[in-house]
Amino acid sequence: MKSHFYFFFILFLILSNAYSQKPETPQDYLSKDFHKNRREALRNMMPPNSVAVVFANPIRNRSNDVDYVYHQDPNFYYLTGYREPNAMVLIFKDEQTLKEKTFNEVIFVQGRNAYAEMWTGKRIGVVGAQDELGFRVAYSGNEFKSYEIDFSKFDKIIFENFNNDVRDDPRDNADLFNLIESFKEKVSFDLINLNNMSTDKMKVESAKKIDTKMLSAFMTTLREVKTPDELKLLKKAVEISAVGQIEIMKAMHPNMSEAEVQGVHEFVYKKYGAEYEGYPSIVGAGGNGCILHYVENNKMNVGDGALVLMDLGAEYRGYTADVTRTIPANGKFTVEQKLIYDLVYEAQEAGIAAYKIGNGVYEPNKIAIKIINEGLAKLGIIESAKTRHRYLPHGTSHHIGLDVHDPGNYGKFEENMVVTMEPGIYIPEGSDCDEKWWGIGVRIEDDILITKNGPVNLSAMAPRKSDEIEAMMKKNSVLTDFNLPNLD
Ligand code: GLY
Ligand code: MN
Ligand code: MN
Repeated sequence: MKSHFYFFFILFLILSNAYSQKPETPQDYLSKDFHKNRREALRNMMPPNSVAVVFANPIRNRSNDVDYVYHQDPNFYYLTGYREPNAMVLIFKDEQTLKEKTFNEVIFVQGRNAYAEMWTGKRIGVVGAQDELGFRVAYSGNEFKSYEIDFSKFDKIIFENFNNDVRDDPRDNADLFNLIESFKEKVSFDLINLNNMSTDKMKVESAKKIDTKMLSAFMTTLREVKTPDELKLLKKAVEISAVGQIEIMKAMHPNMSEAEVQGVHEFVYKKYGAEYEGYPSIVGAGGNGCILHYVENNKMNVGDGALVLMDLGAEYRGYTADVTRTIPANGKFTVEQKLIYDLVYEAQEAGIAAYKIGNGVYEPNKIAIKIINEGLAKLGIIESAKTRHRYLPHGTSHHIGLDVHDPGNYGKFEENMVVTMEPGIYIPEGSDCDEKWWGIGVRIEDDILITKNGPVNLSAMAPRKSDEIEAMMKKNSVLTDFNLPNLD
């Protein structure tokens, strides 16, 4: 009897293991409890007798009847976990009672629709909003128009202004456009459009009720410090991006195109199950590395003797990395390239050391700029460390999270913030210095977690020191033998 039990137990373990190895779709999204807790945290910040109204991102058109791949608004995602368009959420400071129901939040989502789902994919619908997202009160978007809510009873109605390009889909009477129109009607258009006030008294009353600033300020404070659940996903995004950089280092050769470099990174992050890049990939060879937001990535050969600047970040379950490495196309830095590279590295190291709780978030920037200015002067690229120059036109530090430039108050570093450290030197052709420096563009960017024990470099896996990069580039790549037929 006992041996039977063990037999079935072991069989169960084997089978459950076989079936549990890879779920059909990703299961490691933030939990419904995470989003519920975040709504509670927002509620705690809201003023008395207020309601927060948050909308999903609009669908954006690419051309004709093709839309861009949909991406949820990060604030909406943070508060709800909903990844589909055409939705809104109302979060009340206090318990509300409507038709004998008591609640303090309501979500309106896309209703299930077999025909629409055949074209654009599965919707979770009202039942999904309840079961998967944990909203006790959920409705389909087309119920909002007749939803009995008296906005005038609130002392504050807080929302972000509708400054996005929201278009009306004539085939859908409950799209984001309609939700916003109904909201304006309910709150009274006059109340929102302060320029159109009919009387002075109305103006005063409206101004008191409507607030389009408070919500983003609250969201900034919530989002700038990451919870353990968020850190897990963010770390994964960063590590995936670092592995992508390593694979590029191994595969790089002077005849590779910028687009191929981008492709190697994309292959790696897709293999790990990351959805997209968190921002357009930047792969700039030679002088292209001096263009800060270079996204054409269309140079056919990165070129012998050139540096290749690669700013690449995978987005994993909504969280995006932001990692830059700059490497020599042929595997060896020239003397000039190494001098500039090592200077940027020195600035980055000194900056990272200042990522300490209590230090100002702007502190590393000051430290890095000082080192870079002194170094540039020493190399004779600028006259003195005080000379104004354009070789480092950007700051070195920003928060990352659901956005690559995540909201932050930029006060002092706090535990569990994740902030980039990204000094650079860019010397375009024709710069006012010896031409041996022209075309050198270097940025080194890492994602730093603030902890009680000091900074932790989450992207450290990808080599940063010039000699470590050269050593990595000597390693074999699985792509060396990846030969495709010539189609010319
Ligand atoms: N990749 C954008 C940035 O570094 O800020
Ligand atoms: Mn950055
Ligand atoms: Mn970057």
